[in-house]
Amino acid sequence: MKRINWYEPRFDKEEEKIVLDVIHENYVNEGPRTKELERKIENYLEVKHAIITTNATAGLFLAVKADAEIKKKKNFEVIVPDLTMLATATAVEWAGGTPIIVDVNPSNGTMNIQNLEDRITEDTIGIIPVHTLGRAADMDGLEKLAKKYDLTIIEDAAGALGSRDVNGNYLGTIGKVGVYSLQSNKIITSGQGGIIVTNDEEYFEKIKRLRDFGRLSNKEFLHQEAGYNLKFNDLSAALALGQFEKLETRKKMLLEQREQYFSELENVKEVSFFPLMKGEIPLWIDVMTQDRTLLVDYLKKNEIYARECWPALHMNPPYKNQGNDHTFPVASDISNNALWLPNGPALAKEDISYVADKVKEFYRK
Ligand SMILES: Cc1ncc(COP(=O)(O)O)c(C=O)c1O
Repeated sequence: MKRINWYEPRFDKEEEKIVLDVIHENYVNEGPRTKELERKIENYLEVKHAIITTNATAGLFLAVKADAEIKKKKNFEVIVPDLTMLATATAVEWAGGTPIIVDVNPSNGTMNIQNLEDRITEDTIGIIPVHTLGRAADMDGLEKLAKKYDLTIIEDAAGALGSRDVNGNYLGTIGKVGVYSLQSNKIITSGQGGIIVTNDEEYFEKIKRLRDFGRLSNKEFLHQEAGYNLKFNDLSAALALGQFEKLETRKKMLLEQREQYFSELENVKEVSFFPLMKGEIPLWIDVMTQDRTLLVDYLKKNEIYARECWPALHMNPPYKNQGNDHTFPVASDISNNALWLPNGPALAKEDISYVADKVKEFYRK
């Protein structure tokens, strides 16, 4: 029986050559390749600054920490959506703050701003909307609230590199700071890795210093502050540079895979998809069904490895004091009923058809 894994990365000769080049150049610390990657990202996203770091969690941490330090706040809160990977909330805690959880929209699983105002206190310094797997959060609504209450928007675009909103803006480039992940199940990967982008000079400098022991570059020998060591390395940057060349074809591929699943499963009424808006790139294939566990088990018996959606934040022990399934009904519903079908660069059209056939078979039985 053929085995179909959930989202896996793919590399080829391009990455092989550039990684070997770096080995021969003998500069494996953070150096010219990381800088090259930063410049490429800046050009691509049309932002003033890109800073590469160890992973997106570190990127979110640096952004929140910079915000708190710039605002000179020691006890602070940052609003996050319930439906996300744990990292969105833990990054706030790393920075010394408290994440405050709000529910999400049924239409696309991103932060619901309707009752968000009720959660703003005098300690709130920011909001972290998550562009859930390439689907845009309501940035217009959030920008209005941010202006009214003087809050900083840090976009968690971990799974949204290359995705745009309906106005054509790249997700992650709209708020004060945006963060992308280069982890292995993302559109492009360096194994682990994070990209921070901003157009703001003050946040850029603060984040850059915090990331590298309080200095702006390793030519600076007097450290202005203690900071952290969350720098990158040129071997990983080489991988990311090779992958970066594939970004446009990967976008096309992800759209085609989603379209294929959508049309092949169109008549399976037990399964529903989130709508995809113009410009959005669907990183994973999330479908909702009332029979999730049974379907995942059935696929597994057929050597197809689908994944259940993240448990919503409030379902995880560290955050269960913030509410329950009644407090966050929409995130709970999505979290309890969504699954991710296999997709990504390792899969061919026949693989997707094979998975779709097995889903159909499950519902025929
Ligand atoms: C929404 C979201 N935020 C943050 C992260 C953390 O990214 P990283 O694994 O690069 O730290 C992830 C990881 O997948 C994520 O999905």
